[in-house]
Amino acid sequence: MNEIIENEFSWISQRMKHAFKEFDLDIPSESSVNQSYVKGNTHEWTCGFWVGISWLIYENTNDQFFYEKALALTDVLIDRLDRDINLDHHDIGFLYSLSIVPAYYHTNDSKYLKSIQKAADKLISRFHNNGEFIQCWGTLGDPDEYRLIIDSLLNMPFLFTSSKLLGDPKYANIATKHYNTVFKNIIRDDYTTYHTYYFDVVTGKPKFGKTAQGYSNDSCWSRGQAWAIAGICFNQEYLNNNQDDDFNNLLNVFKNNIPDDGVVYWDFAFNDNNPSAKDTSANSIVACGLLERAKYVDDVRKQEYINMASELVLSVMNNYSNRNLDVDTIVSGCTYSFPQGIGVDEACLWGDYYYLEALTRLSNPEWKKYW
Ligand code: GLY
Repeated sequence: MNEIIENEFSWISQRMKHAFKEFDLDIPSESSVNQSYVKGNTHEWTCGFWVGISWLIYENTNDQFFYEKALALTDVLIDRLDRDINLDHHDIGFLYSLSIVPAYYHTNDSKYLKSIQKAADKLISRFHNNGEFIQCWGTLGDPDEYRLIIDSLLNMPFLFTSSKLLGDPKYANIATKHYNTVFKNIIRDDYTTYHTYYFDVVTGKPKFGKTAQGYSNDSCWSRGQAWAIAGICFNQEYLNNNQDDDFNNLLNVFKNNIPDDGVVYWDFAFNDNNPSAKDTSANSIVACGLLERAKYVDDVRKQEYINMASELVLSVMNNYSNRNLDVDTIVSGCTYSFPQGIGVDEACLWGDYYYLEALTRLSNPEWKKYW
C-alpha cells in the first residue's frame, strides 16, 4: 500500500504544482466543470480544502513550493476573516481548521492564534441557547432558518482545537452542547440520518428534519451519513466518548449501501438496480473517520477499520482517478448537489482533500491531524 500511496503523491504533486501556479492566490470553485476547477476567488465554504491540499502535499513530499503556497493562501483566508467576507454560516471550521491551524503548527507564530480566536468567536456567535445549537445558515433567529446541519459536526474540532490552543474552555463548551443536540435529533430509528433539523425559535424544541442536498426529506444523503460517521471519530478525542452504538449503527447503514464498484451513490435512495451519480467524497470522508477511530480500538477492530478504509479509498483510486486526463483535479465522481444540478459526477475540493488525507493517514497513522 505504501508504494501505491507514494506513487499517487508523485503524480498528484506534479499536477497540483502546475494547478497552484496557475491559480496563484485565487481559490478554485467548489467543484469542477468537465473535471477542471474554475477560477474566480469564490469566497465559498470550500476554500480551506484548497489550502489543506497544499499542506498535505507539502507534508508528504517535503516540497517547499507547497509550504510557501499554503502559507500564502492561509493569509488570503485570514484577509477574508479580517474583512468578514461570506462567513455568516457554520462552515468556519472547514475554512480555518485546514489553513490557520496547520500554519500555526508549522510556524508556531502567535499571529495565527489571534486569527484562530477571531474565527472561533465568529463561529460561536451563531450558537442559540434556545435549542442549544449553532444555526447553519441565514439570518440568526429567523424561524425559517432556525436549524442545524449534519455537516457541522466536522466544524466542531475547530472549536475544540481553539479551546486547547487559546486556553479558553468557552469554545469547547459550545461545541459539546451543539454536538449533543445534533446527535439527539439527526439519527432516524433505522440509523439513517437527516441532513438538517429545525427547532422552535421560541421554545427551542426540536421540530422536524429536512434535506437540502439529498433526494428527499425521508431519504439518506450519503455524504450526510459520512459527515456523521466521521463527525463521531473526529470529535472523539475531545469528548472522550466513543459513542459505539451510534458509530456502529451509522457505519452499518453506510456499508449496506456500498454498491459493486465500491463507491456509494450520492443518496441511498439509489443502488445498482436503480443507479444515479456517485459521491466519491463520501467514501474518502468515511475512510478518514475510520482511520482516526483506528487509534482508539483494540487490534482486531483496528485492522478491520484500516481494511475498510483502504477498500473505500482504493475503490475511488481504481474507478474514479483523473490521473489520465489532462485536467487540474485528482478524483472525479463527486456530487456536490444533485437536486440543484451543481457539480454532478465532477471533482470537488473536499473530495480531493479527503482523498489525500485518507492516503496520508494510511501511510502515516501518526499524522498530526488539523482537526
Ligand atoms: N457542507 C456541504 C456539503 O457537504 O456539500
